[in-house]
Amino acid sequence: MKILLLGAGKVGLSLLEMLPEVRYSRGGSGIQVSAIADSGGYLHTQGMKPLEIAASKRSGKLHSLHGWKEGGRLLDVIAESDADVLVDCMTTNFRDAKPSLDCVLAAFRKGMDVVTANKGPLALHAPLVLGEARRAGSSIMFSATVGGGTPFIDFGMLCRRDSSIASLRGILNGTTNFVLTRMSEGLPADSAITEAKAAGIAETDPTNDIRGLDSSAKIVILANTLAGREYTLPDVDMTGIEAVTPEMFREAESSGRSLKLISTYIPGEEVLRVSPELVSSSDHLNVGGTYNALTYTLEDGNEFTLIGTGAGAVETARAVARDIASLLDAREGKRDNQARTS
Ligand SMILES: NC(=O)c1ccc[n+]([C@@H]2O[C@H](COP(=O)([O-])OP(=O)(O)OC[C@H]3O[C@@H](n4cnc5c(N)ncnc54)[C@H](OP(=O)(O)O)[C@@H]3O)[C@@H](O)[C@H]2O)c1
Repeated sequence: MKILLLGAGKVGLSLLEMLPEVRYSRGGSGIQVSAIADSGGYLHTQGMKPLEIAASKRSGKLHSLHGWKEGGRLLDVIAESDADVLVDCMTTNFRDAKPSLDCVLAAFRKGMDVVTANKGPLALHAPLVLGEARRAGSSIMFSATVGGGTPFIDFGMLCRRDSSIASLRGILNGTTNFVLTRMSEGLPADSAITEAKAAGIAETDPTNDIRGLDSSAKIVILANTLAGREYTLPDVDMTGIEAVTPEMFREAESSGRSLKLISTYIPGEEVLRVSPELVSSSDHLNVGGTYNALTYTLEDGNEFTLIGTGAGAVETARAVARDIASLLDAREGKRDNQARTS
């Protein structure tokens, strides 16, 4: 199976470096990277191994390789590509989801499947993206968009087999959880954010995290996937952690609770919300540091909480790799079935 990789930053590079180890049911290395693009242009790799591509990018030599198209357009590399799967590891854009949105739609038109770590297109244009995938008969897999390496979406799909979702409630952003945890220990907000950046937890510009946009995108993706809805980002009643004050932490402490940025979806009440809330010390969501946690309450009365590391380039790349391996398995299974029935 051939992939076209868009974006070779922290996640894309980690993916290239783990591709040779990706396990799928047949074993072996059934995955080739036939082309790669970053913000400077693109390259049809002509059989280069993923590790060679990663090493070229890391050493700054990718753009001087023979065949590199400086300034080449993403839509051109998609049109020229013989890849089966478009893998989107480009920067998330919550304004209009471009250029990823156009790339994903172009991939579907070519009959390609899509694996994405990028929340933009699904958070802003889920009806369009999912509709175009259905029309084209393509798959789109996006477990990396929520929870990094923790399989919040996959676990939710498993829960959904037994019963509908009655509510989802969780901490979906590791950066804000870290910042709130450090603030609860007495650090001012600015210092907590600086510390998160220094530790490589927060992006250089963590605005999307602090304002609650990242958490909002994730609760939209969860609601749409697990409850078959077609929400978009503006549907979320969103409050970030910008206005959190030391007094709020003192109040939380005096009542034995913690202040957390909680994302909530209650289908029966059309509640789709992100806001700072007090959680009791016995609540499973009372996790500190960069942890993410999500409580799934089902209509049959069952309740589960999944806790895990929410982000990290390697963990996120692992989720992308899992999705690629699932596609490979599905394609080979389909081929086997065709062989058996012909
Ligand atoms: N890092 C995490 O822990 C994490 C967790 C969950 C999800 N994600 C998602 O995964 C994606 C990648 O994250 P990352 O941490 O790898 O980001 P990153 O290190 O900033 O890398 C982004 C990549 O996108 C490329 N890019 C940006 N604009 C482009 C354009 N217009 N055309 C072509 N390429 C473009 C960049 O090109 P250059 O190399 O030329 O700059 C870079 O290779 C994002 O959508 C992010 O939200 C990341």
